[in-house]
Amino acid sequence: MPSVRLVGVSKRFGRILAVNRVSLEVQDGQYACVLGPTGSGKTTLLKLIAGLVQADEGEILFDGNSVNDLPPERRSAVYVPQRYALFPHLTVKENVAFGALAKGAPRAEAEAVASRMLELVRLGKRGDALPHELSGGMQQRVALARGLASGAKLLLLDEPLGALDARLRIELRQQLRKLVKELNLTAIHVTHDQEEAMTIGDAIVVLREGRVEQAGTPFHVYQRPESIFSANFVGDTNFLEGVVAERGARESTLELRRSLRVKVSDVSYLPGERVVVAVRQQRTHVSSGGEGGMNALDGRVRAVRFLGNFVKCEVRLENGDEVSCKLMLAAGAPKVGESVKVCFRPEDCVLFPYPHAGLSRELEAV
Ligand SMILES: Nc1ncnc2c1ncn2[C@@H]1O[C@H](COP(=O)(O)OP(=O)(O)OP(=O)(O)O)[C@@H](O)[C@H]1O
Ligand SMILES: [Mg+2]
Repeated sequence: MPSVRLVGVSKRFGRILAVNRVSLEVQDGQYACVLGPTGSGKTTLLKLIAGLVQADEGEILFDGNSVNDLPPERRSAVYVPQRYALFPHLTVKENVAFGALAKGAPRAEAEAVASRMLELVRLGKRGDALPHELSGGMQQRVALARGLASGAKLLLLDEPLGALDARLRIELRQQLRKLVKELNLTAIHVTHDQEEAMTIGDAIVVLREGRVEQAGTPFHVYQRPESIFSANFVGDTNFLEGVVAERGARESTLELRRSLRVKVSDVSYLPGERVVVAVRQQRTHVSSGGEGGMNALDGRVRAVRFLGNFVKCEVRLENGDEVSCKLMLAAGAPKVGESVKVCFRPEDCVLFPYPHAGLSRELEAV
């Protein structure tokens, strides 16, 4: 509980349109992730929903009822800020119990909830510490516990895992999701980490310069990005520019720079149209020979980087274009300087119209 709906919501700060006619829906019990680069309006969006910032236009509804005129404390939502704002003179446990106590809950009850939430964020033993005695990541977990303990049904989490180390981040994100489901809450979780959004969100909203660029399930946004921006932001992607050379019933042929040809399953573009083809790096393989039905482009390995359980292999194609391939370590890594074939399936190619401002401009927007 509850569902949240925004209809044409905008917020301007002087000349900056921080949130630009945003419409979106988060269902009751859903865990939604808002993903976008810095300055794209994520915090402003959460504050609008919390009632901490007033919209210039548009409507915000909880369970179908407008909350535009409700002050923050009557919205049954809690905003957990990006920068943990703890009371420095209160202990950790007092900080977490603060909301419930302020609402008049009995002390024993408020402290019991606070203890439970502190256990949950793995700070059960630090309840008597003062905030300045904790590390940044610990303070962030206290802020999270405080939000959870407030009893609000709608959690508005602003980069809640931002200050944590990689391992705790991964562990806590699963716990966070589990908790929201167990307690029947609705959560809107802001992050600029696409992997975090993909792994915990039931739904993902991609923001760009205050506008919703794309919204849908993680699977949908990953498989069917609707723009170069989305494809670039959600998952590592290779982009190649080309022109449609032939259009068949089930496959089209593109001509990349210097007449390099690739086949794609998307036949919605006409011969002569300038396009950008996007292929996920995980879907781009290297091999010494070609593989049946796949595109196989000649190239030379420029760099190999080890990234945990996979390797990223950068290859310069014959025509000078650069692509990256993410390979599982088990596959054995190619060597720098080696000649390889870069292989990818026609059905893994997503096409976009060539952007007016040029491809590199579009890629820089992330
Ligand atoms: N109180 C304010 N006064 C003036 N401008 C503001 C204010 N709050 C936000 N902005 C501007 O609105 C835009 C969106 O800011 P916002 O904080 O919502 O972005 P964000 O997506 O949360 O970024 P980050 O990932 O860096 O936290 C930015 O250009 C920012 O400078
Ligand atoms: Mg922010």
